[in-house]
Amino acid sequence: MFPVTEGYMMEKTSTTFERTLVTSALPYANGYIHLGHIAGAYLPADIYVRYLRFRGVKTLYVGGSDEHGVPITLTALKEKISPKEVIDRYHTANADAFRKLGISYDIYGRTSWPLHVDTTQQFFKVLDEGGYIHTKEMELWYSPQLERFLPDRYVKGVCPKCGYVEADGDECESCGSQYAAHELVEPRANIPGDTSSPILRKSRHWFLDLPKFGEPLNAWLDGHPEWRANVKGIAYGWANDLRSRCITRDTDWGVPIPLEDEDAVGKRIYVWFDAPIGYVTNTRQWALDTMNDEHGWEVWWKDAGTRMVHFIGKDNVPFHAVIFPAMSMGQPDYILADQVVGNEYLNIFNRQTGQSEKGSKSRGNMISVRWALENLPVDAIRYYLCAIAPESKDSDFDWDEFMNRYNGELCNVVGNFVHRCLTMTVKNFEGCVPPAGSLEDADQEMLDAISQQLEAIAESLEEFRFRQALERFIDLGRKANVYFDAMKPWVTRKTDMERTGTSLYVCCQVVKALCYAMVPFMPEGAANLAAILNLTLPENGPEGGEDAWVEAKTLLPAGSSLQTPTALFPKIDKDRIAELAEAHLRGEAF
Ligand code: 2FM
Ligand code: ZN
Repeated sequence: MFPVTEGYMMEKTSTTFERTLVTSALPYANGYIHLGHIAGAYLPADIYVRYLRFRGVKTLYVGGSDEHGVPITLTALKEKISPKEVIDRYHTANADAFRKLGISYDIYGRTSWPLHVDTTQQFFKVLDEGGYIHTKEMELWYSPQLERFLPDRYVKGVCPKCGYVEADGDECESCGSQYAAHELVEPRANIPGDTSSPILRKSRHWFLDLPKFGEPLNAWLDGHPEWRANVKGIAYGWANDLRSRCITRDTDWGVPIPLEDEDAVGKRIYVWFDAPIGYVTNTRQWALDTMNDEHGWEVWWKDAGTRMVHFIGKDNVPFHAVIFPAMSMGQPDYILADQVVGNEYLNIFNRQTGQSEKGSKSRGNMISVRWALENLPVDAIRYYLCAIAPESKDSDFDWDEFMNRYNGELCNVVGNFVHRCLTMTVKNFEGCVPPAGSLEDADQEMLDAISQQLEAIAESLEEFRFRQALERFIDLGRKANVYFDAMKPWVTRKTDMERTGTSLYVCCQVVKALCYAMVPFMPEGAANLAAILNLTLPENGPEGGEDAWVEAKTLLPAGSSLQTPTALFPKIDKDRIAELAEAHLRGEAF
């Protein structure tokens, strides 16, 4: 039995870890990535990673495509192309969309890589040799017409628990229940052209013996009271009701079962077994690519000084908080996650019906990243999605709210302040930060607020409260506007240049802090502002570096030269938003 070691129980804080490995769920390469995906898993992960890198923490951010399983082969069948064509098309498109959105992976890998076969088969073999895998004969649906089994979503029918008529082979999307395939009522094949009635047929499969991990799993979960309530709820629900899970399928698309067994022929390892192992494969590939080091991945997965954080949607919680940890407990020396940041869903607000609805392909109401980037500034997308991130409950994408929050907060509060401050400074002080005269209480309070606000933002980010962190960033802008309006440099410049200089000196310090604090959320805006301030923002890689957050609090010296400012966050016109909302309603946003 796997020992519950001290290392697994220890809560690693920012002062006790040496490096952080961040993963975000590998999306299936069977469709274009959309804004729901981004708000739920990828943007929070990217903000966190950018923040850690900026703090000089050794950080590796691993992602990639999930290229096995029924989602891929069903898409191939429906589009009448090969699974390989499906994954090549969507992997390339999604990698490109992530890059343009600034999701800063260190590697965006693929589970179709040959290296992944090796990693997955190793995992399987070690679990098998440890006695954690057994076989069992099952009764599964089979198509007499196609002479093949119908795993998972290949068969549809009526849910035995709630009567939902579109239930999948082994689980119901409507009531969330899972059942044995033979329990499905009125089964029908979900393959174009298959008109035969499925029949039950026996097939021997491999199972992961999850109950054997019950004790260490519960002990490990008990060691993480700090996790979000939604994640703990789902994880304990599973951990307290562990059953053996079938980890193979009757299909020819996936990682082959690494056993000399005639029943393994025509079967593959189940996609949910190999997908999380993709994080390991991609780390291996990253170490090979960047260091040509076959063992370079091990420190990220086997050293107790590594802190691992998974960012996922809530449907992925059982796999990241129970099944993959159990699989890892069965391997020698693997670390377990320190945080599983599970997010709720981003729904779509339909302005015609006034109702919130789930994003779905069939409704045509989803917004692809590709389309969004063709029509909106990248920072506007990042700002709004972080502002409404579904952290503890579902949230809605709503075009009016998009406009009000982006224009009213990022443009009006931050962009406007930066522009007013820098334009006045450049014009009145020969393009340089003016010298500070004697500081009054209001000046000192504003300078103190910079440090306080930066600390507050960092605290929120450390606790994975991204919405709160962004609010605190905007609050710094609000405080700065209040100060600017109270100091009235446009009035004092007519009578008292020293006072004007002091006020603008203080304002320039806020601008610098805003620039630094903007880095994790709006990297494009931060880079543009840094260029105006003639600052070089540090770009730390996985090897870490200086803590730039500390540097954010240091003062921009008087005399520092400034470039003529340009609008950082141009407002989006109301009519343009209406046009986009209309196109979205017409189903053109995907
Ligand atoms: O839900 C999904 O889209 C899965 N492809 C996520 C896999 S996450 C990880 F395990 F790879
Ligand atoms: Zn049901």
